[in-house]
Amino acid sequence: MIPADNGKPNQSQSNGSSGNGQSNPSDILTTRQGHPVYDNQNIRTVGNRGPATMENYQFLEKMSHFDRERIPERVVHARGTGAHGVFEAYGTVGNDAISKYTRASLFQEKGKQTPVFVRFSTVGHGIHSPETLRDPRGFAVKFYTEDGNWDLVGNNLKVFFIRDAIKFPDLIHSQKPDPVTNIQNQQRIFDFFSGTPEAMHMITFLYSPWGIPANYRQMQGSGVNTYKWINEEGAGVLVKYHWEPLQGIKNLTQKQAEEIQGKNFNHATQDLYEAIERGDFPQWELNVQIMEDGEHQELDFDPLDDTKIWPQDLFPWMPVGKMTLNRNPVNFFAEVEQSAFGTGVLVDGLDFSDDKMLQGRTFSYSDTQRYRVGANYLQLPINAPIKKVATNQRDGQMAYYQDIVPGLNPHVNYEPSNLGGLREAQRAGEEHSPHYSANLVRQKIDRQNNFKQAGERYRVFEAWEREELISNLGGALANCAKVIQDKMIEMFRQCDAEYGQRVADEIQKVKEMMQQNGKAAVGTAAKKEEAVQQAEEMSTEAKPY
Ligand code: HEM
Repeated sequence: MIPADNGKPNQSQSNGSSGNGQSNPSDILTTRQGHPVYDNQNIRTVGNRGPATMENYQFLEKMSHFDRERIPERVVHARGTGAHGVFEAYGTVGNDAISKYTRASLFQEKGKQTPVFVRFSTVGHGIHSPETLRDPRGFAVKFYTEDGNWDLVGNNLKVFFIRDAIKFPDLIHSQKPDPVTNIQNQQRIFDFFSGTPEAMHMITFLYSPWGIPANYRQMQGSGVNTYKWINEEGAGVLVKYHWEPLQGIKNLTQKQAEEIQGKNFNHATQDLYEAIERGDFPQWELNVQIMEDGEHQELDFDPLDDTKIWPQDLFPWMPVGKMTLNRNPVNFFAEVEQSAFGTGVLVDGLDFSDDKMLQGRTFSYSDTQRYRVGANYLQLPINAPIKKVATNQRDGQMAYYQDIVPGLNPHVNYEPSNLGGLREAQRAGEEHSPHYSANLVRQKIDRQNNFKQAGERYRVFEAWEREELISNLGGALANCAKVIQDKMIEMFRQCDAEYGQRVADEIQKVKEMMQQNGKAAVGTAAKKEEAVQQAEEMSTEAKPY
């Protein structure tokens, strides 16, 4: 059975019974079998010097559970933190009632509150990596709506590196540590990028100060991919989501980030946790951009291309609600590590667009979670909807309960049935059924326009942001093979002639500087090499004992 309140993690997990019917004072240590533990300091041995015996259930249970404390870290977005909160709807979009565009119940009434859980993260680096590293930041929101869960799995930046899901494993492999040395390597990263022109817009953001947000509270969020909203009549519009922090936005330069990292490599987790503990609850307003469904040949980009921003002057941001994070997890592992988000998790009134990257993502998330957390990951309190669940799914590893409905026939775990099983629901409104007629192909999209928005972004940056961008790119590229440098410079030139020239000049400058100093490596690679030497040279010798 489902626990009455769905076991959402603010409830106490204490259990006053030992499981054998005898009550157990709640501060007495027990084994998982409910046996009192009389001695938690000494293993059972033959004489007090050993050897140890193997029948010691208490020791075996304690140690073997400890041996299984870790589950695989997320293959991407491994490093993160999370918080609970609430989303409050405005009931409108622009001057219209929101029902004009979507029938999703969480948005309809002004003031309607929906509980949420948010996980913020970095992307490429491992589970305990510094939170000061250059990387996009994840911004994943789980809405526990009355119609079931909705996950809005976004990032802080509004665009992405690639537009076709089949490239994702290659993108991530290039960002992850080298399979031989286990060290992240800028040459591998730019080797991939030099053959991926659609990444130029994202790279222009990532190597600027926008690539290192100050913390998780003062950054934006974006759904990045294009979704649909569906109204009562079944009509759909394209929609993009944006979270705007009411705390403002702050970014760090490379130098500032390195200084912070030297003092605290968990600063963003600490910042969020402490802000919530002191009652300084962070808030974000959710904005949407809406576009009529269709190809929009009048635009110089494809509306479904996630490497592009929809210009605000053509598609204004319209606020639809506000989110407040007001409660920290009480168990990081249960609530943050085991939380599982997915782009396929939508409620009635929200739908997929034809964005092919989004469909690729939608396979990947639940697939990885069935592997990482387990087949029954949706039974965990953090992932289970608050709405009562009634499925015919049964069993599997770690099945915690069966979602049997009181009054229905527990023998029937199939549908259809005449014997009192579950039945299909009625539709909440007209079905949205777009018509398709096209050849099945493997092709790039027509309007790729890989460089225009990247060039515009370069020119919109303030002078210091451009300075930082050039310095970071020059430092990263200086130690790459010439073929990679040449390809990258050529693409920067196509974004903006000055952009390309400045990156070329910076690479040259870094190389010359290092040659003068007699260093083999240059740029970022030189700094890393220096650190390796410093560790040996600056350290103090110790005598063996
Ligand atoms: C085809 C492209 C993509 C694929 C295949 C993909 C796949 C994945 C996978 C496998 C995970 C790990 C999930 C887990 O273990 O729980 C993940 C996490 C995540 N992805 Fe993606 N991703 C893609 C693109 C994107 C994009 C464009 C965004 C931003 C809009 C994004 C945002 C996130 C976030 C925020 C998480 C962390 C969720 C959490 O906090 O648990 N991903 N992605």
